[in-house]
Amino acid sequence: MQGEIATTVAADWRQAQRIVVLTGAGMSAESGVATFRGARHALWERFDPMQLATAEAFRADSALVWGWYLWRMAAARAAAANAGHRALAALAADKPGCTVVTQNVDDLHERGGSPAVLHLHGDLFAHRCFDCSREYDGDPLIGVDASAPQQRVPPPRCHHCGGPIRPGVVWFGESLPERAFAAALSACERAELVLVIGTSGLVHPAAGLPALAKRQGARIIEINPEASAISSLADLHWRSTAARALPQLRDALA
Ligand SMILES: NC(=O)c1ccc[n+]([C@@H]2O[C@H](COP(=O)([O-])OP(=O)(O)OC[C@H]3O[C@@H](n4cnc5c(N)ncnc54)[C@H](O)[C@@H]3O)[C@@H](O)[C@H]2O)c1
Ligand SMILES: [Zn+2]
Repeated sequence: MQGEIATTVAADWRQAQRIVVLTGAGMSAESGVATFRGARHALWERFDPMQLATAEAFRADSALVWGWYLWRMAAARAAAANAGHRALAALAADKPGCTVVTQNVDDLHERGGSPAVLHLHGDLFAHRCFDCSREYDGDPLIGVDASAPQQRVPPPRCHHCGGPIRPGVVWFGESLPERAFAAALSACERAELVLVIGTSGLVHPAAGLPALAKRQGARIIEINPEASAISSLADLHWRSTAARALPQLRDALA
């Protein structure tokens, strides 16, 4: 059954020239990085995002928010790319028309060998000043204990204006990085095939990309062990995990 699906998806992959792979937190789940929704240990089951992932929250209690992000930074840094990240890098390397788009703020695609990933929700490690937006190049993990999520740690201060340093992620209510989103939009408008991997499909505008591609005629394949908001528009559901399905796809193409 899994072998049959791998063969079908491999045929689609071989045939298409312009492919978009859109990944979400499920892509990193098998690296041990917690997802936001859909699992027993998902982040949003244990924390209220509105208290942690908004500019208002940071203004109200920057030490609580910074402490939570330090914990996520430490978890991401301690994690390693999984077999899915590595297989995807190999697949994309053989397909010049393939664009990898992620909602993940970790760097596991890059560490798995994908050089040019579009990060729609920013980068956990691209810290910047909350007040003046200048980059901060210090390593905030040095010398702090980030082993627990609910630790208050005051953020470092900007070397230029003294403002508090914030993580380089896109918070709720903020706009997506313009260049990455424009590139993702244009890739989706032209795509023949879209693989949607490990996303619940609930956070817009990223979640709207598969529907846009479908309206332009793309075939949509979902890789997710569970149903998601994308499932209803997918042409094929591969009910497997990222670290299992992607190596199978790579092997089916070899
Ligand atoms: N690693 C990260 O960078 C990370 C982690 C958590 C959340 N986020 C943020 O979550 C928001 C969007 O949510 P999302 O849709 O990316 O994640 P989500 O947590 O809402 O959904 C995760 C999805 O992954 C699926 N899944 C779980 N394990 C999987 C596996 N092994 N293989 C394939 N699929 C699996 C679940 O069924 C679910 O549909 C974004 O803002 C993103 O920045 C990022
Ligand atoms: Zn500043």
